[in-house]
Amino acid sequence: MLSVLLAGLALSDRALAIVSQDGTGRLPAMGWNSWNEYACDITEEDFVKTGELLISLGLKDVGYEYINIDDCWSDKEKKRDPTTKEIIIDTAKFPNGISHLADTIHGLGLKLGIYSDAGAETCAGYAGSLGYEAIDAATFSKWGIDYLKYDNCAVPEEVKDEYEFIPEELSDNAPPDYDWSTSNTAKRYRAMRDALLKQNRTIQYSLCAWGHAHVEEWGNTTGHSWRMWGDIMPMWAGKEKWSWGLMPIVNQAAFLWNYTDFWGHNDWDMLEVGNGNLTFEESRSHFTLWAALKSPLIIGTKLDTIEKPILDILSNKEIIAFNQDPVYGASARPFKWDGVYDMEHPAAYWVGTSVKGIHLFLLNSHDKAQRMRTRFSEIPALSEKKGDRYLVRDMWAGKDLGVYKGDISVVVATHGTAALRITKLDGSHPNPVQGGIVRCTSVQRQFGMESAKMCHVQFSQK
Ligand SMILES: *[C@@H]1O[C@H](CO)[C@@H](O)[C@H](O)[C@H]1NC(C)=O
Ligand SMILES: *[C@@H]1O[C@H](CO)[C@@H](O)[C@H](O)[C@H]1NC(C)=O
Ligand SMILES: *[C@@H]1O[C@H](CO)[C@@H](O)[C@H](O)[C@H]1NC(C)=O
Ligand SMILES: *[C@@H]1O[C@H](CO)[C@@H](O)[C@H](O)[C@H]1NC(C)=O
Repeated sequence: MLSVLLAGLALSDRALAIVSQDGTGRLPAMGWNSWNEYACDITEEDFVKTGELLISLGLKDVGYEYINIDDCWSDKEKKRDPTTKEIIIDTAKFPNGISHLADTIHGLGLKLGIYSDAGAETCAGYAGSLGYEAIDAATFSKWGIDYLKYDNCAVPEEVKDEYEFIPEELSDNAPPDYDWSTSNTAKRYRAMRDALLKQNRTIQYSLCAWGHAHVEEWGNTTGHSWRMWGDIMPMWAGKEKWSWGLMPIVNQAAFLWNYTDFWGHNDWDMLEVGNGNLTFEESRSHFTLWAALKSPLIIGTKLDTIEKPILDILSNKEIIAFNQDPVYGASARPFKWDGVYDMEHPAAYWVGTSVKGIHLFLLNSHDKAQRMRTRFSEIPALSEKKGDRYLVRDMWAGKDLGVYKGDISVVVATHGTAALRITKLDGSHPNPVQGGIVRCTSVQRQFGMESAKMCHVQFSQK
């Protein structure tokens, strides 16, 4: 029986994403992570307080559900128990243990995430999980963990990849037909996937391999989301050491937006909304574009001191609804763009579809306000319908701009992003989905457990 199951798994492995009956990972994850504002300076109290704030600020109500512990939660010196080999918790930071924290977070109706690394050590030098995948997955499951961010530091020499691909350097020395899913990086990430799948617990699996080894080509069969680039930092453009501003990341997304769909998402890194000296417009662009790209929306700012305008950005229901659309899984994509690689001025005109209509996202990467104009006939989803009139809505103002024929033009502030929704005059979808329903077929996926479902959306476009 077991061998039959294994054979079936091996055959279907390439085609299958990690799907689960409760829908975990079908849509981009939404939550909060400690790294961007706290780094290693974390305590149990920070996570409990953040969970409570997620509720009192209304963020849970708009969909944020994960409270994620990043690096530095374990005992840096002792690392592992000499007998059980389990990672030892830093009891100064988590005096009641992680399991107790998970109970508290679950008691708030939220979920708890944790962090580890597919190497010998984490990026900050704490115990890594390479070689300990089975033990650590079992430990996380036992504690009641719901989400694992899995980083890529301290990879031992003997398991380094044969070839190298680093997205920022555009370096790819593999033969043209090389299958990156056979790389050691893919193997290191699959080892943890397999260990997680053996647990009697659904754990969302967030790969953090920074776009290396063309993770976008094997991410969908390995985890629910995968980082596509080096670390983000709160600045508009440029880079500092291994961290990058927003524009270089958006530029990369203009080329690789199409690797995202249900169950598997390009992760353009956690949100810096409200951090550093991003202006209000820049924070709003950041949130709009990450939502449009169907990236996970993981807040990275302190919630106890959050300012109202920043909270309003993170709570915009129309923008979130695009990111979490139940019927259209694809990312927004660029149009009116010549495909030029430009880290300062990436693709400016983006279009996407949701159950509510066709959406335009117009990015002004320039240092002064710009009037941005597009003919409806230039918009791929509308190009067949020349001469039609459309109702256009401003998703940020939350109001209709009016009825337009031929074209639409809006003034976009410096480093701003307009978010518009286009429908027919009566508000109906210009490209309705017919029978746009999720169909699931049962697939035996996890050992000794009830079968999980493989789901996809079936619809025909008029
Ligand atoms: C798996 O977990 C469920 C729910 O937590 C529980 O009811 C069930 O008994 C568990 N199954 C096994 C085999 O441990
Ligand atoms: C995405 O687009 C690229 C370039 O057009 C293509 O090579 C690749 O196969 C596409 N991938 C997916 C998953 O659609
Ligand atoms: C990822 O896998 C799921 C489930 O098999 C599939 O629906 C989706 O289209 C895949 N994503 C991409 C980008 O191919
Ligand atoms: C803020 O922006 C200025 C000017 O662009 C830059 O020099 C400075 O380093 C930034 N500060 C932070 C904290 O990002």
